[in-house]
Amino acid sequence: MLRGFLVIFLLCTIAILAVFGFRGQTSTGPPLELFPDMVRQMKVRAQAPLNFFADGRGPRLPVAGTVPIGYEMPTKSETLNTSAAAIGSYSHPHASFSAGTDYYNTGKMGDHWGTGIPLEVTRELMGRGQQRFNITCAMCHGAAAAGNGITKQYGLATVVSLQDERMRKMSDGEIFNTITNGKNTMMAYGPNIIVPDRWAIIAYLRALQRSQNAAIADVPEDHRAQLDKQ
Ligand code: HEC
Repeated sequence: MLRGFLVIFLLCTIAILAVFGFRGQTSTGPPLELFPDMVRQMKVRAQAPLNFFADGRGPRLPVAGTVPIGYEMPTKSETLNTSAAAIGSYSHPHASFSAGTDYYNTGKMGDHWGTGIPLEVTRELMGRGQQRFNITCAMCHGAAAAGNGITKQYGLATVVSLQDERMRKMSDGEIFNTITNGKNTMMAYGPNIIVPDRWAIIAYLRALQRSQNAAIADVPEDHRAQLDKQ
């Protein structure tokens, strides 16, 4: 009995020594890696050559025609011969994501939401707003902002109508903040939409709201007769 125990004890000792070795001893052999996991793998190292690509470079150049987001947009003359011309010639003088703490960048005046579009509301800005709204908001809020976008059919039931009294009375700054940071189940669109585009969207949204809540008094008198005919 005791003999059997001793034999097992001796075998265990040899096995442990074989696996862990004499710790502290120097060796020229490669270290034993029981679980190498992802320590050694093919990867691109910054600024290092790589044979994987034909030109031998590891880091790749951006694809031709890549438009940087959050920097100055191409001006009209530069975009004429590219596909960007197809989406309009609107160019922002200071295209950027939120940077400052002023009304333009946060929608806040002091501690409160401010109101007013801090850009000149031109036909061009409205057109840009319409285009951006249709791209980034309409699938949820609907083309007329009535809360009936296509996602509703696929189960996104909590989308609100932006035609409600509450939304019509909501300050521009608060809407700016909702676009930038999201609200409840609506995710933040700040990382996707540059600051001037957010204001363009709000300007267009205001036009949508007016279009759905117009009174006869909003129509110039000499145009009212035309309305009756239609
Ligand atoms: C993926 C769907 C989706 C998209 C895209 C989307 N929204 Fe929303 N939005 C929602 C949902 C859902 C709510 C309701 C959030 C809640 O209160 O539960 C909402 C709420 C709002 C509100 C009301 C916030 C409040 O205070 O009650 C505003 C304003 C708004 N969205 C504006 C926009 C604008 C402008 C865009 C385009 C830049 C946009 N949304 C894009 C889903 C979306």
